[in-house]
Amino acid sequence: MDIFNARIGWTSFIIWFLHVLVCECVPLLDSGQIHSPQCPQLYPVNLQKQWEISVPDGFQINLTFTHVDIKSSITVLHDEKVLGKFCGNENSADGRHPGYQPILSPGSRLTLKIQLSDYNPDRNQNVGFSAQYQAIDIDECSAPEPEDGSGPLCSQICLNTLGSYLCACHHGYELRSDERTCILSCVGGVFDELEGHLMSPGYPNPSPDALSCQYIISVESGFTVSLNFSDKFHIESVDTEEGPNCLYHWLEVIIPDRNPMKLCGGTSPGLINTNSNIVKLGYNIDNQGQSNGWSLEYSTHRVTCPVPGEVAKGRVTPSLTEYFYRDYIFVRCDEGYKLMMNGAEIMGFSTMCQSNGEWHLPLPECHIIDCGEPDPLLNGGVNFLSGFQNQYLSVVQYHCNEPFYSPYGGNNVSLTCEADRQWRSNHDVILRPACLPVCGRPMKQIENHFQRIIGGNDAAEHTIPWQALINVGSSRGGGMIIADRWILTAAHVVVLNGQVQTPEALFVYLGVTDVHQIIENLSLNVTAVHVHSEYNNPNNLNFDHDIALIKLKDPITFQAAIMPLCLPSEDDTYDTGMMGMVSGFGITDKGNQRRFLTNKLKYVHVPVVEQKKCSISLKGKPSSRTPRLTNNMFCAGTPEGGKDSCNGDSGSGFTLQSENGRFWAAGIVSWGLGCGQKGTYGFYTKVANYVDWINKIMREN
Ligand code: ARG
Repeated sequence: MDIFNARIGWTSFIIWFLHVLVCECVPLLDSGQIHSPQCPQLYPVNLQKQWEISVPDGFQINLTFTHVDIKSSITVLHDEKVLGKFCGNENSADGRHPGYQPILSPGSRLTLKIQLSDYNPDRNQNVGFSAQYQAIDIDECSAPEPEDGSGPLCSQICLNTLGSYLCACHHGYELRSDERTCILSCVGGVFDELEGHLMSPGYPNPSPDALSCQYIISVESGFTVSLNFSDKFHIESVDTEEGPNCLYHWLEVIIPDRNPMKLCGGTSPGLINTNSNIVKLGYNIDNQGQSNGWSLEYSTHRVTCPVPGEVAKGRVTPSLTEYFYRDYIFVRCDEGYKLMMNGAEIMGFSTMCQSNGEWHLPLPECHIIDCGEPDPLLNGGVNFLSGFQNQYLSVVQYHCNEPFYSPYGGNNVSLTCEADRQWRSNHDVILRPACLPVCGRPMKQIENHFQRIIGGNDAAEHTIPWQALINVGSSRGGGMIIADRWILTAAHVVVLNGQVQTPEALFVYLGVTDVHQIIENLSLNVTAVHVHSEYNNPNNLNFDHDIALIKLKDPITFQAAIMPLCLPSEDDTYDTGMMGMVSGFGITDKGNQRRFLTNKLKYVHVPVVEQKKCSISLKGKPSSRTPRLTNNMFCAGTPEGGKDSCNGDSGSGFTLQSENGRFWAAGIVSWGLGCGQKGTYGFYTKVANYVDWINKIMREN
């Protein structure tokens, strides 16, 4: 019977047209009524009738009799199976009556049959039946599994719908074309965890036909993916002349920048280290053959960088056997070495293992440090004792230009180039090397002790190297070198007519033993003239404090012809009879009568005279022409005369020799009554009284 032909599941609002044929097949809706003909009138006799109720597939029929008054029976059938057979009257106790209990058809069809007996006028109340029916949705999902062994209706999720059901799959699975079963979804999966598990759809069951699966493992850069295939591996391969070939089924492993590889066969590839953070897998199955599939665990490892190697004269830390992505290494140089990179020094060095497996910076180099040229030493020099080019641990030694200079502290200083790039002495006390002038030690000694200025002898070169010649206007004086910029002289040499001469008015010559030499020798520049503040000699009768200092503009470099005289020390004394030496370019005698300014530097030795004798020698002399004797003076000479300094020698030195042979400045030629006369002496400024003044002037200027 062609009853109903609608497909279920079109829309949520489908009007079900239900047709029920009563013999002649009267169409009915999803609910309705059926009743015996002419009901509630008497039904015709000998009626044999059949009703077919049909609702759409996926629905059941719920049938309820509302009235039954039939002598014979009503049979309710579903596909030949009798669901119930009724007769009688609902109000009578006898017979079989369905009551108001609904009858539920197992399917979408129901058949009602009545077989009425002969007409019986007594029982004209037997008026037939009426019933109502409804289409009821079947919950297919809760139906028991079919017994044919085809498995559950839906392999994962069953959704009941009006008149039907739908199968659905869990996340990560997709519904196969049978719309019942689910398989592992195999397209578009991106695996970004650091480890994971992949397998062919349905694994360990054979892979379905016609697959084209793609899996992407993409972890952060700096990590590499390793694939570890499980032993149970099978992808159909085709035997060709060249051997097995992944012709129709394959698993392709695609690693960037490398040739893709196709895997198939029955042997697990085992472990594949891809050395890449991105791996694509493509699983291809055509619609024939069988592959039992594959499964793999993937894991990741941090990218490694090459072991950095060694740095000569340096240390790479930490020292490991393997270095991974994001590891740092540091380089430090040994003591005395510095970090160099691209030709420039760097203060520190570190480099990181990058995600590409390379160090972000190449290793630096360690170069030996150097201390630079050692500072030059004035009046001295420096020798290399060991080492090379002022490099670390080189040793230099300072020396002074002997015999004119000697090292401060007495010893030559050695310095080592230390790790801090400083030249350092290896003593605890760091000595800055310095060279001090050697005073009072001429290169040549005067041998004859009995020569004189008056009637004196020419001084050989280098015997009186401290001697200065000072010309002021037309007058001549002398002086003595006491330091590299200082000339000690008499005040009356630089004060003329009560006026201190300007520096420009002074012409100072050193290293000269013959006045003729000064023609070629330019005079030295003078910057200042310091006269003792208490010197006051308007009438040439007061030579007290007859002392002055001349400061030179440029320091003198001492040598054999020019050397300083020592200043008096604490131990130096003026002992009567002590033989001193006085020198100068002053008046000399030739024969007994004729006296003239000498061109040659002369000297004479005269003894120190007891101060009382000096005083006595002046007694009885006309006071208008006799200067006053003070304790800032001493006199020297012999009672018989003949040996003396004289005019033009003023300012020159009267020297004594200390025990160690050093010449020291004992006196300054100052004044006398005549020159070399019997019973008179030469008078000298007593330098020992002025050491403090001298040092103060030199220190402060
Ligand atoms: N006042 C003299 C001069 O200006 C020095 C005299 C030294 N006389 C002597 N008898 N020592 O050069």
